[in-house]
Amino acid sequence: MKTEKKFYEMNLEERLSFIASKTNLTKNEISTIVNQALPFEKIDRMIENAIGIFSLPLGIATNFVINGKDYLVPMAIEEPSVIAAASHAAKLSTFFGGFKASAYGSIMRGQIQITDLLDIKNSIHIISKNKEALLSIANSRSKNVKALDLKTRVIKNDVDNQKMLVAELYVDCKDSMGANSINSMCELLGPEIERMTNGKVILKILSNYSTERIAISQATFKKEELGGSLVVDRILSAFAFAFSDPHRAVTHNKGIMNGIDAVSIATGQDFRAIEAAAHAYASRDGKYRTLTTFSKSSEGDLIGRIEIPLSVGIVGGISSVHPVAKIGLKILGVKSAGELACVIASVGLAQNFAAIRALSTEGIQQGHMKLHAKNIAVAAGATGKLVDIVSETMYKQSNISLDNARAILHKVQNRELGSA
Ligand code: MEV
Repeated sequence: MKTEKKFYEMNLEERLSFIASKTNLTKNEISTIVNQALPFEKIDRMIENAIGIFSLPLGIATNFVINGKDYLVPMAIEEPSVIAAASHAAKLSTFFGGFKASAYGSIMRGQIQITDLLDIKNSIHIISKNKEALLSIANSRSKNVKALDLKTRVIKNDVDNQKMLVAELYVDCKDSMGANSINSMCELLGPEIERMTNGKVILKILSNYSTERIAISQATFKKEELGGSLVVDRILSAFAFAFSDPHRAVTHNKGIMNGIDAVSIATGQDFRAIEAAAHAYASRDGKYRTLTTFSKSSEGDLIGRIEIPLSVGIVGGISSVHPVAKIGLKILGVKSAGELACVIASVGLAQNFAAIRALSTEGIQQGHMKLHAKNIAVAAGATGKLVDIVSETMYKQSNISLDNARAILHKVQNRELGSA
C-alpha cells in the first residue's frame, strides 16, 4: 500500500511542490524562496551602508490546526530542533482539535511627552477640550489607520521625583503593525500640543508595549499521548518552577520566543518590538513570569495557554518589501493581522509545550546532539551521504567534535569506515 510521505521525508523538490500545491505559489515565488533574491539596489534602500545579505534557514512547521483551519507555518531560524518540536507539539494538539486562539484589538498607543508645564491640571483640561481637533489633525494625513482617542497620563519622574505629562494617542492599526503611521501622527501633534499647553514636547513616538493588542491561544494535550499522568505532573512541576523563578522563566520564555520570532521573521514582522513587549508583559504583575500557563483538566489532560501582546501586520512594513516575507504570508494564508497573531501565539505555545515536555522527560540534548552532529560533520567538510555517515558514527561513539568528525571523514574517504 502506498503511504503519503511525511513533509520531513521529502526532498527539496517534493517539499516545494507540496507547498506550491497547497498554497498556490507561482514558479517565480518558488524560485524566490530557493534563490533568496534580494538585489543590492533593494537592500541599499532598506538599510544604510548595505554590503550584502545575511541568510537564515527557512522551514515549514506542519500539523497546525488553529480555530479549525489547517496551516503550513513558515519559520526562519538557525536553531536545530525548533521546527520539528513545534510540528510534533501541533500534531499532539490535534487530538482535541488543535489550538483555539483569539486576538483582541488592533489598537496601539503613540506617546507625546510634555514637560516644563506650569499647571499640569490645566494642561490636561486644555488637551481634553481640544481632543476632537487634535484627533482630526492626527487623522488628516492617514488613509488606513485611524486615531480614535487621546488621553493624558501624569507620570512620576523616577529620576528627579518631578511630574511629567504624557498625551497618549490610541490608534486603530487594523491590519498593519502601525509604527510609521503612529510616529507620523505623534510628530504632527507635537507642535500643536506644545502651543496649546505652553510646555515643552520632547518625545513623539509609539509605544511598543502593545497591551491593547493581545493574542491568546489554548490547546489541550491528551495525557496518554504525552506518556501518562506522571508526565503531565512533571510538566506541571516544570511550569510551576518557571512561573515562580525569573531565572527559569527567562529560559522558558526564550523557548516560546524561538517559535514566535521564527514565524515573525519569516512573515516580515518587527520581532524586536514583539520581544520587547513580550518580556514587559511577562512582568505585568511586578515579577517576571511565564507567558504561558499550564493546568490539568478534570480528565487529567494537560491544558496549555499563552497570552501575549502581538503587534503584527499583513500590510505595509517589511512584509510588503521583502519578497520572501510576502511569500511567507502567502504560505500561511492569513487574511488579517489578528489571524496572523493567532497563528504566532499558537506556535509560541506549541514550542514551549514541546520544550518543557522534553525537558521534564528525556531532556533535549538527545535530539539536539543528533542535529548538532550533522552541523559538525558539515563543518568538517562532509557532503551528501557522508554527512549522515560521519554524524551517526560520532553520535554512536558519543564523541561529537570537529576533530573526531575530521578523523571519521578522513577514514571514510579512505574507505576505512570498518575500523572507524
Ligand atoms: C532552547 O533554545 C530553548 C529551551 O531552553 C527552552 C526551555 O528551557 O524551556 C529548551
